[in-house]
Amino acid sequence: MPLIVVVGGFFGDEGKGKVVSYLGLIDKPSICVRTGSINAGHTVNYNGKSWKLRILPSCFVNESTRLMVAPGALFKVDVLLREIEDTKAHGRVWVDANAGIIEDKHVENERNNEYLMKTIGSTGQGVGAAMVDRVLRVLKTAKDIPELRGMITDVSKDVNEELDRGGEVIVEGTQGTFLSLYHGTYPFVTSRDTTAAGIISEVGVSPRLVSDIVLVFKSYVTRVGAGELPGELSPEEVVARGWVERGTVTGRPRRAAPFNIELARRAVMLNRPTQIAITKFDALFPEARGKRRWVDLPVSARRWIEDITEALKVPVTLIGTGEDSLDMIDMRREVVGP
Ligand code: IMP
Ligand code: MG
Repeated sequence: MPLIVVVGGFFGDEGKGKVVSYLGLIDKPSICVRTGSINAGHTVNYNGKSWKLRILPSCFVNESTRLMVAPGALFKVDVLLREIEDTKAHGRVWVDANAGIIEDKHVENERNNEYLMKTIGSTGQGVGAAMVDRVLRVLKTAKDIPELRGMITDVSKDVNEELDRGGEVIVEGTQGTFLSLYHGTYPFVTSRDTTAAGIISEVGVSPRLVSDIVLVFKSYVTRVGAGELPGELSPEEVVARGWVERGTVTGRPRRAAPFNIELARRAVMLNRPTQIAITKFDALFPEARGKRRWVDLPVSARRWIEDITEALKVPVTLIGTGEDSLDMIDMRREVVGP
């Protein structure tokens, strides 16, 4: 009954979408659950196509997987319906009755809030404002929306039953450990707990049932919006290193810094992963681009991975080497066993 939780290790945008889409294609899980909300953009590139998802699970690329939205998640109805169209996922998308609904008033409310937009650098998607209404118990939930009627389910029941049957379930976290409302760089954080414990709490599954926690780090650190970023590079240096990125949801340029082992250590402490995934490895080692086997990596690149494993005392099992979902070196069998 494997239950795999995928968590971001830094400030979001580590490449969780790519990791989850890869696991979807290889593991073919019965269920994939998205947590979080539409402030988080997950990019999936597969077979020459690209999708930017804000609420549908990135496992959609595997056509036999049931795609679920967690009770702790929040979304705008139009965003969900558009993503179902874009991914042609009709008929296999299920939304928990208690998932929160973001309305236009929440978006307006946030965009008119100068503190949130200027000081914190919110993505302005209405997520925090809707969370406020959820806590005040006035937020609409999925069961109140007629257009969602055919998609409503009980996600925690579905997930628990599937695990009891021996099926595989992947839970896709959002953002990153240091954007957690409780464990991040408060107040420069998002409106939820983004660590492994917070993610499974959004689904309604016991910590005892988790078999793997995959902590995702990019080979360098990025951050959008305000808040500290240790080792931050100048915009010119970011260009020179080829690390220029823009936010999936807002299009804002991402700030960047080199990989930070101290931050990574703290993320390991907070999430206690069983495995680590490193994405965009080809940004550090261009010779690694597109490689899918460990033996094809140059010695310096292998050394870098071995050093990380040694320093964090957690095996690096997945290494992303290109945009495509399948551009991945997968050492799960070698390191963790079949
Ligand atoms: P909010 O959650 O949209 O209010 O944004 C609060 C802070 O979290 C801002 O610094 C955002 O840039 C950041 N943030 C929220 N969601 C994401 C994400 O998915 N990736 C990266 N940063 C995010
Ligand atoms: Mg993102």
